[in-house]
Amino acid sequence: MNVKEAIYEWYIKNGRHDLPWRQTDDAYKIYLSEIMLQQTQVKTVLERFYFPFLERFPTLKNVAVAPLDDVLKMWEGLGYYTRAKNLHHTAITCNGILPKRPEELGGLKGIGKSTAHAICAFAYHQPLPILDANVKRILCRYYALQTKDEKILWEKAWKLLNTQHPYEHNQAMMDIGSLICTPKNPHCLECPLHISCKGKEEPERYPLKVKKASIPTKQRFALVIMQEGKLGLIQRKEKLLHGLWGFVQVDVCPSNANYLGRVSHTYSHFKLELDVLILNESTEKVDGYFTNEEITQLALSTVDKKILALCSMMGNIPPTS
Ligand code: ADE
Repeated sequence: MNVKEAIYEWYIKNGRHDLPWRQTDDAYKIYLSEIMLQQTQVKTVLERFYFPFLERFPTLKNVAVAPLDDVLKMWEGLGYYTRAKNLHHTAITCNGILPKRPEELGGLKGIGKSTAHAICAFAYHQPLPILDANVKRILCRYYALQTKDEKILWEKAWKLLNTQHPYEHNQAMMDIGSLICTPKNPHCLECPLHISCKGKEEPERYPLKVKKASIPTKQRFALVIMQEGKLGLIQRKEKLLHGLWGFVQVDVCPSNANYLGRVSHTYSHFKLELDVLILNESTEKVDGYFTNEEITQLALSTVDKKILALCSMMGNIPPTS
């Protein structure tokens, strides 16, 4: 049995066939899963986000006709909100119908070449390889490569692809990458690529590890501006959390405020530490004042949810019913 057959057989026997995006050939549902899974673990996507999103938006057409705020609301807490904005943009661009050709799919906002291939391989069984972080690690180990060169890795991905069974091959690579060929302590003896793997003696040498720079901490102040029992919020304009609602943040502590507590949140490139202050008036502009009930209808980022929870805990706003 050659390595391609071994991967296929392994998938038939050991693959995670019950994952919901493997129980459908609806390109939209597969596309959604791929986008959610780009920066989020399977467990989180499965337990909290995939089904509620599909319940609210059963088709891509439903996404296309919805306001962005509604899409962001369903993405609330999942992070990397650009994904939701791109999904909404793409839904509108293709009027709810995804193209079937990988070149066209890859031209849509938020769909890179690997995601385009994943959609085509999983929805239409097109013979195309995937090259995400897990697959890159498997290829580097299998071919004993320390390179990060995408061109070389795409060549290897094409070389290893089982063109008879592209669906199973790619799903297997996903499973092997997350269950067997793990970054640390890989389970080489259980791996279907083991027989001919060039990196199996020292798998952790591949790919070459580049030391990640430690991320900086930003210290700011979050303002809970209260007026007649309502909270002043802004709709964020900056790239990171664009479109989400939240509390005003400033770099300088205002004088007329009371200290509520501290919240923090780690993003991909920095850690944010916020001293939360409550005040009755402020020269800071807000986009609206909302009751606690109304706030539950808005999409807030995780750090703003933490601030809201702190306010409730400290008895500054009534808990939501
Ligand atoms: N991560 C990205 N795509 C995936 C898939 N189809 N199955 C499991 N994990 C994934």
